Amino acid sequence: LQVFYLFFSLQVGIIGGSGLNNPDILTDGSERVVETPYGPPSDVLIEGKISGVDCVILARHGRKHTINPSNVNYRANIWALKNVGCTHIIVSSATGSLQEDIKPGDFVVLDQFIDRTKTRVTTFFDGSDNAPEGVCHIPMDPVFCDKTRMILLNCAKQMGLGVHPSGTAVCIEGPRFSTKAESNLYRSWGAHVVNMTLVPEVVLAKEAGMCYAAVAMATDYDCWHNTIVCVDEVMATFKANAEKITKLFIMAIGKIGEENWDDELDKLKVYSLL
Ligand code: ADE
Repeated sequence: LQVFYLFFSLQVGIIGGSGLNNPDILTDGSERVVETPYGPPSDVLIEGKISGVDCVILARHGRKHTINPSNVNYRANIWALKNVGCTHIIVSSATGSLQEDIKPGDFVVLDQFIDRTKTRVTTFFDGSDNAPEGVCHIPMDPVFCDKTRMILLNCAKQMGLGVHPSGTAVCIEGPRFSTKAESNLYRSWGAHVVNMTLVPEVVLAKEAGMCYAAVAMATDYDCWHNTIVCVDEVMATFKANAEKITKLFIMAIGKIGEENWDDELDKLKVYSLL
């Protein structure tokens, strides 16, 4: 009975950039407009099946890429995915490389972050009328769901992608890129990539008790490398490699659907008050 129940309750949310908004990767795809106590999510949810598993796709910056990283309503996005029944969230994000051996076009299955954001609400428990009651000091070790990470990593290896098994992402506020002094500081901290969206997304997913994993795509070398970072390069590299991420996610979702997630979800529930 347990297996039967799990089989039908598993649902994977996908938060991605460009290529991953394509509803054609879902069978029986349909759009759903969702309102949340935190306002509207970035766009409609697109529900359907991938590799036989119930999935929901959400474009982090909106399908027309109109929402900048500071203005993404992270709480609405995570709440919406939780509310339609997602147990998992897998995400992709464009990142700048802080290490020579992480080349543009490579992938990193992140395992740590350093938060350099400044203006974002990082909890559902903010004391407002709509918020769940109480205070939540969410532990951040481990940051990501290791079992989901391993599935993504093994699939990426099987596909022959240039993939790094772990890595620390610095999340900056943006929308500007880093100065050279900042970029070198992050390198001195041992960080591997830099992006603008991981925090608070990962933190909120943890508060919501969901298995969350992130695949970073290096789209450029950050400016420590003496190359000029420009949005056109970032977008071009992302587009050129989006198909690989799409294929990776399709394969990984099939594997996620074959596993029993009782233990992982139980562990997350201890901290989840949603
Ligand atoms: N996203 C893609 N490239 C980036 C960079 N160099 N810095 C911050 N965010 C990024």
